[in-house]
Amino acid sequence: MWGGTSHNDGPRRGSRRAYPAVDPKETVRERKLQSSPSATAERGVEVHIPDPSGFAGDQDEEWCEVAIDGETHRIRFHDYGRIYAIPGLYERIFYDTLECDSPQTVCSLLERVLREHDVAPDELRVLELGAGNGMVGEELEHRGVAEIVAVDILEEAAEAAARDRPGVYDDYKVIDLTSPPDRDRHDLEQQEFNCLVTVAALGFGDIPPEAFAAAHDLIEPGGWLAFNIKEDFLQRDDNSGFGRMIRQALDDGALELVDDHRYRHRLAVDGQPIHYVALIARKRSELPLVA
Ligand SMILES: C[S@@+](CC[C@H](N)C(=O)[O-])C[C@H]1O[C@@H](n2cnc3c(N)ncnc32)[C@H](O)[C@@H]1O
Repeated sequence: MWGGTSHNDGPRRGSRRAYPAVDPKETVRERKLQSSPSATAERGVEVHIPDPSGFAGDQDEEWCEVAIDGETHRIRFHDYGRIYAIPGLYERIFYDTLECDSPQTVCSLLERVLREHDVAPDELRVLELGAGNGMVGEELEHRGVAEIVAVDILEEAAEAAARDRPGVYDDYKVIDLTSPPDRDRHDLEQQEFNCLVTVAALGFGDIPPEAFAAAHDLIEPGGWLAFNIKEDFLQRDDNSGFGRMIRQALDDGALELVDDHRYRHRLAVDGQPIHYVALIARKRSELPLVA
């Protein structure tokens, strides 16, 4: 399943497909990754991507150097707490420099699918898992979603969302969904969510399958899911078992795939494209937890 071959047909509906081959133009690294101006520039913060020849790690080991007031710090891309603590740094690294496009891509696909199903965005009651500093919430809000509750495991994420995008979320819970405090669990159960959104947060030691399954449990039957996942994880397993769980859920019909779209999530530090698949699905039953 999910075999990548030669179509280049962009997003379309259906449950199984072959993904388009990588556009060779994207693999030719002719330009140097550079930081462009953003909020951090005004604060004397500079981002330097390391020389890719000295980097041989995986996506979750990537790092950059950040010069703050003349002092240089090496920051791993997955050290979100440190990144969120500096206003604009997350946007500077991932959006300006590495050209990430995932919040916009996933939310646009959701918007299009909802339109095709005559669902107005303001009918959604969204649970956003791994909400970070609110970039996805902001995209949803721009599209007319009125009710969004965020969950993230990091206090720094909630602080950054309140600082940078106040008012986007109705509530922001800093909890581990696999063992939430009773009061938070009760609050979330009362919300009757009909949509789960999670962007750039599955696999790679971020959200584990158990937390995604717990979020999925909070969604009404027939509710919508909008998420993305690294393309490779739909074909082979990541260490977390995420890919296996999603593949099995689609195979078993626990998730009904409504639409998907393979796209360039961002550039790696060596300038190579990292491809993800955005999926829009409907909840049909509980997710299988695969060992
Ligand atoms: C790459 S960021 C993505 C943030 C946001 N979705 C976006 O697209 O800008 C991944 C986020 O997942 C969060 N995260 C990691 N593990 C988590 C967990 N077990 N439960 C909730 N959030 C988690 C991280 O704290 C981080 O904010």
